[in-house]
Amino acid sequence: MIILGIETSCDETAVALVKVQRNRLEALSNIVSSQIKLHAKWGGVVPNLAAREHLKNILPVLKTALKKAKVRPSAIDLIAVTQGPGLIPALLIGTNAAKTLSYVWQKPLIGIHHIEGHIYANFIRVNPKSKIQNPKFPILCLIVSGGHTQLILMKKHLDYKIIGQTLDDAVGEAFDKTARILGLGYPGGPIISQLATRNSQPKKKNNFQICLPRPMINSKDFNFSFSGLKTAVLYKMKELQKNKKLQEALAYEFQQAAIDVLVSKTIKAAEKYNPKTIMLAGGVSANQELRKQLGEFIEKNIPSARYILPALSYSTDNAAMVAAAGYFRWREMPAARRKEALRNWQTLQADANLELA
Ligand code: KG4
Ligand code: ZN
Repeated sequence: MIILGIETSCDETAVALVKVQRNRLEALSNIVSSQIKLHAKWGGVVPNLAAREHLKNILPVLKTALKKAKVRPSAIDLIAVTQGPGLIPALLIGTNAAKTLSYVWQKPLIGIHHIEGHIYANFIRVNPKSKIQNPKFPILCLIVSGGHTQLILMKKHLDYKIIGQTLDDAVGEAFDKTARILGLGYPGGPIISQLATRNSQPKKKNNFQICLPRPMINSKDFNFSFSGLKTAVLYKMKELQKNKKLQEALAYEFQQAAIDVLVSKTIKAAEKYNPKTIMLAGGVSANQELRKQLGEFIEKNIPSARYILPALSYSTDNAAMVAAAGYFRWREMPAARRKEALRNWQTLQADANLELA
């Protein structure tokens, strides 16, 4: 089966073709056109500018994805598109492109929750020949993106129980806001992690002996809070003399504080729910220190669980993850619903606040 995925929920115009054979998912193409440079000037994503760029890019990106995958429209079995959550002007471009293609090509259409896409990025094989088994349930998933920070328990496919989430900023948002406070660019995650690495070589805490809070690390629930951490960075910036070394020290300590909380809560949740698999998902999963430190803690504390990470190309927003989620939705659908999916182009609506269900 071949699935066309489309993603335009934020500032990435993405189209991918994913092939499924004997339940193994392989991306034939995964094209992402990023608007980072355009939005960097404004320090964040401007929704109407994003929509204008998506409109400009969607057809060239689609053409490139088809060409790279060597797939003709007639060979496509299903179209999956991000329905929400996200910026409505941006989502509308992807959903309307998908609806038009579904109508013109007479293909079934499925709307996907963006976070469901991030989760299913973990099911795409980087090496299609690998013999590694698909992840076993129950799965504990740590979602870390620009809009979400959640711990989700999955007892089976498409079954999501949110056991904890951020009470204020998402962790990616905290990375971005902290970068702004430190006078760095946008998006903050990659820049902060680069600076943090500089501070940690040779391994020393930091020149300023800065110690930032680890918000809610000892709370009994699995919730998070990151807005106070970002404010603590702001106060330190005001208190200390600004220079490159201070920037590096703050970047290092901010990143470590965020990782400490994420890792600690994930381990506590794993101790309670005994998952067979622990997964990381969302744009912040591209953070090398988080990938590494979570892995070390799981190995030490939850050795019975398998730790799964999305490949870097499927960590930040992309459309292969949307196609992957589309496959699992399709697989679980009764025949009547599959037939209805041929007419979904008439009814599918982008939803900025779509709930994961
Ligand atoms: O999933 P994503 O691409 O978009 C949303 O769904 O929000 O996540 C974007 C977020 C941004 O906040 C960005 O700063 C963060 O992921 N990010 C990172 C890294 N790469 C991207 N955060 C920390 N370290 C990184 N290497
Ligand atoms: Zn995302």
